[in-house]
Amino acid sequence: MDENVILTMRGITKSFPGVLALDNASLKLRKGEIHALMGENGAGKSTLIKVLTGIYPFEGGEIEMEGVEGQAINHSVQEAQERGIATVYQEVNLCPNLSVAENLFIGREPRTKCNTIDWKKMNSSAREIMKNLDIPVDVTMNLENYSVAIQQMVAIARAVDMECRILILDEPTSSLDDNEVEKLFRLMRDLKNKGVAILFVTHFLEQVYAVCDRITVLRNGQFAGEYTVAEMPRVKLVAAMLGKDLDDLASIKAEGSDTVRKDVVVDAKGLSHKGTIKPFDFVIHKGEVVGLTGLLGSGRSEMARCIYGADRAQTGTLTMNGKELKAKAPIDSINAGMGYLPDDRKADGLIGDLSVKENIYLALQARKGMFHPLSPSEQNALADKFIELLQIKTASRETPVNQLSGGNQQKVILARWLATDPELLILDEPTRGIDIGTKTEIQKLILKLAAEGKSVIFISSEIEEMLRTCSRLCVMRDGSKVGELDHDLTQNTVMTAIAGQGKEGEQ
Ligand SMILES: Nc1ncnc2c1ncn2[C@@H]1O[C@H](COP(=O)(O)OP(=O)(O)OP(=O)(O)O)[C@@H](O)[C@H]1O
Ligand SMILES: [Mg+2]
Repeated sequence: MDENVILTMRGITKSFPGVLALDNASLKLRKGEIHALMGENGAGKSTLIKVLTGIYPFEGGEIEMEGVEGQAINHSVQEAQERGIATVYQEVNLCPNLSVAENLFIGREPRTKCNTIDWKKMNSSAREIMKNLDIPVDVTMNLENYSVAIQQMVAIARAVDMECRILILDEPTSSLDDNEVEKLFRLMRDLKNKGVAILFVTHFLEQVYAVCDRITVLRNGQFAGEYTVAEMPRVKLVAAMLGKDLDDLASIKAEGSDTVRKDVVVDAKGLSHKGTIKPFDFVIHKGEVVGLTGLLGSGRSEMARCIYGADRAQTGTLTMNGKELKAKAPIDSINAGMGYLPDDRKADGLIGDLSVKENIYLALQARKGMFHPLSPSEQNALADKFIELLQIKTASRETPVNQLSGGNQQKVILARWLATDPELLILDEPTRGIDIGTKTEIQKLILKLAAEGKSVIFISSEIEEMLRTCSRLCVMRDGSKVGELDHDLTQNTVMTAIAGQGKEGEQ
């Protein structure tokens, strides 16, 4: 027996109508380890976590903490908390209209002698916590004023501050930039040294190799193996997740700068949006995939929003196929032949109560107008096509989209924009939260669209992914476009360009 074991989940079974989400799954956590929980989209990772934290009841199996037989902790969320399990869920569940401090202390507010909330104490403790984590926020401001990344850090800070024995992080890093990820990792290592067991869900292999000690792989709701990171080569890990070998990643490659650029699709001159992006020029040709790169907050998303018209440009002009486009609302851009997958899916994205099918045909229907409704059979055919193409794991096309796993929801929204068959597709982090197998498929799909003559503007925090798909990169820094790269595209040249030449000399 391994005496460091702090938690054992054995033979866990959990089903939803039409789906067996967990099928005899198991997991073992030890004190002072960082344990990766891996598997494809829909493999059951989040469900296993919600069973552990008492959110979902389960049908079979047992959970033990510290080897105390029969001490199942399946009774309630409160019980899990009392036993020292703190969780950051995949979907950030904080209150945007409360302050940062309130979000940190919700449900456990410091009290005065008269049992009212001790605001002074709460704010000063909150300031202390955020300072220790090196997160620059005003704790009295409402959370909604901050980026998704900061909100995520607040959720993490809250969990960390709860003096837990087990900390669960379900894809906390998907919206963080490298710098923030590094902060988080430092924090995780500190906690590990204090004996906390950390369960970490991520789709980024590098992160697993950077911080984790062990890995448990789930496949189709079943336990597929437990490995130590040191003894698990990447290819083997991928094979364990997919249940087969992955196509050679190297086989995907952008054509490079030798593609002939002739037909200009979009030509933007001097576009800008006050407070977010300074005037920039941008051209994209038919069949081109152009990446917008830069650190989070560099203006890469803002540039995309400006081209699409989600943020109305205050200066400059934009022509599409030679005609000036004065987009007043996104629908004008859609009608002109653009499609835009935004970065902030919560604000502009999925409608949870609608079915997978409805979410997929929504944008196409908007483009056609309400007097040309798609027939039910067209709707079904469209949904089926994309469920197949993007391997969306869903019980049926009629399933409400909020019943899908995080990564599969992401695929649905990508499908929505692909379905409009746009001439110019703008994709801001299209593969966030998507498992490694499907990620490769999406990259291939982007290249295929380009080969068919579509143009794609692509944004990703993963430089490697951009290098594989883009033939040209626009480099952004501090709200300005600072240059373009169209040859010698390597990790190194791109990183140097993003960081800015003078940077090292200045320090
Ligand atoms: N509330 C729910 N109602 C119905 N089905 C659900 C619900 N939550 C999850 N499922 C289904 O259970 C399966 C496992 O989903 P889960 O969210 O655990 O996957 P995951 O491994 O976390 O995937 P991802 O990497 O995409 O986040 C999926 O098929 C999903 O559709
Ligand atoms: Mg999940």
